[in-house]
Amino acid sequence: MSTAAITTAKEVFDLLHDDLVAVEREFERLSASEVDSITEIAGYLREGGGKRIRPALLLLAAKALGHTGSSSVRLGAVIEMVHTATLVHDDIIDVADIRRGRPSTNTQWGNSKCVLAGDWLYMQAFRVALEERNFRILDLLISLTQQMVEGELLQMECLGNALNEQEYHELIYRKTACLFRVSMQLGCVLAGASAPMEEALGEYGRNLGLAFQIVDDVLDLTASEAVLGKPTASDLREGKATLAVVHALEHGNAQERADILAVIEDHGLERVGHERILAILRRNASLDYAIQVADAHAEAARNDLAILPDSEFKRALLWVPDFVVSREK
Ligand code: IPE
Ligand code: IPE
Ligand code: MG
Ligand code: MG
Repeated sequence: MSTAAITTAKEVFDLLHDDLVAVEREFERLSASEVDSITEIAGYLREGGGKRIRPALLLLAAKALGHTGSSSVRLGAVIEMVHTATLVHDDIIDVADIRRGRPSTNTQWGNSKCVLAGDWLYMQAFRVALEERNFRILDLLISLTQQMVEGELLQMECLGNALNEQEYHELIYRKTACLFRVSMQLGCVLAGASAPMEEALGEYGRNLGLAFQIVDDVLDLTASEAVLGKPTASDLREGKATLAVVHALEHGNAQERADILAVIEDHGLERVGHERILAILRRNASLDYAIQVADAHAEAARNDLAILPDSEFKRALLWVPDFVVSREK
């Protein structure tokens, strides 16, 4: 077996190509309802693209542990359906008008239909998971969904307030990293992995997911809408304090703190603009700080893989943290 490191997205995609194609087919088949708007909303998001990073993680975990068989494809589709449901709901909550470079589903079908379509997708994901007849799988998925809902609710309760770093971490664990953790754990369950192995790979998922959301939050501040395919500066506009902003609030001078708080409290950039906030973040090296924290989680994730025997799947998992912290969208 070659010991060369996997270094490109294409190599990982080639490694998983057939399975990811099968995941897409399953997702399409499983999200067809007799009610057209459900099929249309799910289809619209599916065709809009997306990185498919969560099913890729589930597949890599299962394969790195020697699992063969179709359950990993089915659960990969389940995980992507859960992710899709959260996006449908999240864009309503965030009043976002663009997703995956296209008008978001809420702008096309309206909030009411999207709430219901999201609920349907969650339930369909559980129904499909139930077919595995494995309580561990249901336990993981149900706790996950509750954590994600709690994360979004906690976030809402924090809007307009300055968080501290600890609160920020708890929030992003629930809303994002938990799904990465469970994607890895489901791969472990399918492969019949030992408890220490499931714990280590779950930790990998948690660290990777934390890095992922920290980078998402930095991109929200720094990227362009054209590249990101999502609205930018939307967190500031919603009154969401993310890591770089939390850092600047703790390290900035009195005027800088007052300017940031004006944006957070206003839920808007009318009194203080995006450029001024970026200047404050740069002067306090706050964006660099957020990237350093993301890098540290990426490094921790790689270290969590020490327990895993070498294989091309492990090498792909070692590459994913680099991808997550260097991505542009
Ligand atoms: C978006 O996730 C939601 C977050 C947790 C930030 P992705 O960035 O994985 O979205 P897609 O699936 O690639 O569009
Ligand atoms: C991720 O947070 C929320 C979800 C878990 C869906 P964001 O609100 O930052 O996600 P994006 O930026 O809209 O994708
Ligand atoms: Mg959002
Ligand atoms: Mg975001």
